[in-house]
Amino acid sequence: MSVGIERLAVYVPAYALKLEDLAAARGVAPEKYRDGLGLGEMALVPPCEDVVTLAATAGARLIGAAHLDPAQIGMLLVATETPVDHAKPVASFVHGLLGLSSHCRVWDLTHACYAGTAALMTAADWVRAGGHRVRRALVIAADIARYPLGSPGEPTQGAGAVAMLVDAEPQALILSEDTGVHARHVHDFWRPLGRREALVDGQYSIACYLDALTGAFTAFRALERPPFEPGEAFTDRVAHLLYHSPFPKMAAKAHRRLVEIDWRAAPGRVVEDLDTAAAASFRELVAPGLEAIARVGNCYTASLYFCLAALLEAQGRRLGGRRLGLFSYGSGSCAEFFSGLVPASVAAVSDAGVAASLARRTYVDVAAYERLARAPETGGDPPPGFAGAFIFEGVRGEQRRYARVGI
Ligand code: HMG
Repeated sequence: MSVGIERLAVYVPAYALKLEDLAAARGVAPEKYRDGLGLGEMALVPPCEDVVTLAATAGARLIGAAHLDPAQIGMLLVATETPVDHAKPVASFVHGLLGLSSHCRVWDLTHACYAGTAALMTAADWVRAGGHRVRRALVIAADIARYPLGSPGEPTQGAGAVAMLVDAEPQALILSEDTGVHARHVHDFWRPLGRREALVDGQYSIACYLDALTGAFTAFRALERPPFEPGEAFTDRVAHLLYHSPFPKMAAKAHRRLVEIDWRAAPGRVVEDLDTAAAASFRELVAPGLEAIARVGNCYTASLYFCLAALLEAQGRRLGGRRLGLFSYGSGSCAEFFSGLVPASVAAVSDAGVAASLARRTYVDVAAYERLARAPETGGDPPPGFAGAFIFEGVRGEQRRYARVGI
């Protein structure tokens, strides 16, 4: 049975900040954010949006685009590290807003940026397990990345949601069954209870990410079939590689590490200048998947799947019949390397909504961004031109209230 992602739909919140404006306000050379981190813009949420509205809007877009009867969804998994309640999952709000069946398993998964992959793998295994009923799972990865104002992490903030329909009719990506996993208890990035902004040991987090990539990719490569021909590398077998991208330069560092492991493990492969060859390989295999995320920033567990949606939307037809490699990293930590085959019918998912979402945003200035960052989450009215499907109205009687406004 082929199991994987039938289609994807994304949602990016209504506001954005240009990082050249942030650089000017922080007295930083704009090249540091643009070239040093690879970022151009960050997505921001207006007061009427939170992780529930991001997730629910992506889910509503996917259900609409797939012309899906919500009753066909037997599992709803929301992956997020920025929930809105200690007990009630984001998934239960989303379940209600989307009008899903009561015969549906509903829960949240949290493991920093890895949770989206945990949800995807859980859903795929559930579909593979079969049963009398056709199994379709809705997996939504959604997050709002916040770091303290003025901190090194500040330019890497972002927000967004990606919804994926997982079933036995994958038209976007057929998932490989063999994956490579690497888990290790580290304190590289965390968010103590009661804090809205994450704490991070930045350079250490980069080292942890690269160690996890080494572990996960080495485990994956050992399972690769058919065996490699002399001189053949895994990078020869894929059209593109997608990495969890807290900032695009991280994907460049990751790719440099991967090719070093991969090419050194290919007996007879001669590489004269590893740095130059790795940079050329990055431009061909990785850079095309990073253009959109550079305008969103880190959307934590949605980041990898945002890159996938953007790549398929921009280049889907060309990729039909080709293979992709994907690396997921969540601080704390757990990482997974896996691959997927883009089916020939990929044209069906060429409208994930990435370009449309990015085109409809309102740019705010740094003063407005700082007001938003400091404001308590009170909910509010949708701004002019709002493209989301749901708004967070506010808290009444200690309960969060939402309303449908679009789609
Ligand atoms: P920083 O203090 O800005 O670091 O923090 P930097 O001084 O090393 O500068 C960054 C890059 O800009 C360097 O490039 C500089 O050379 C370059 P590199 O040497 O790394 O290639 N640079 C310039 N380039 C051009 N012109 C200039 C210039 N000046 C400097 N004028 C850091 C960077 C990433 C640490 C910080 O932004 C941070 O703490 N970010 C948050 C943590 C993070 O994203 N970690 C990534 C790995 S962990 C992960 O991905 C998990 C995560 O998503 C969370 C989860 O799992 O939920 C974060």
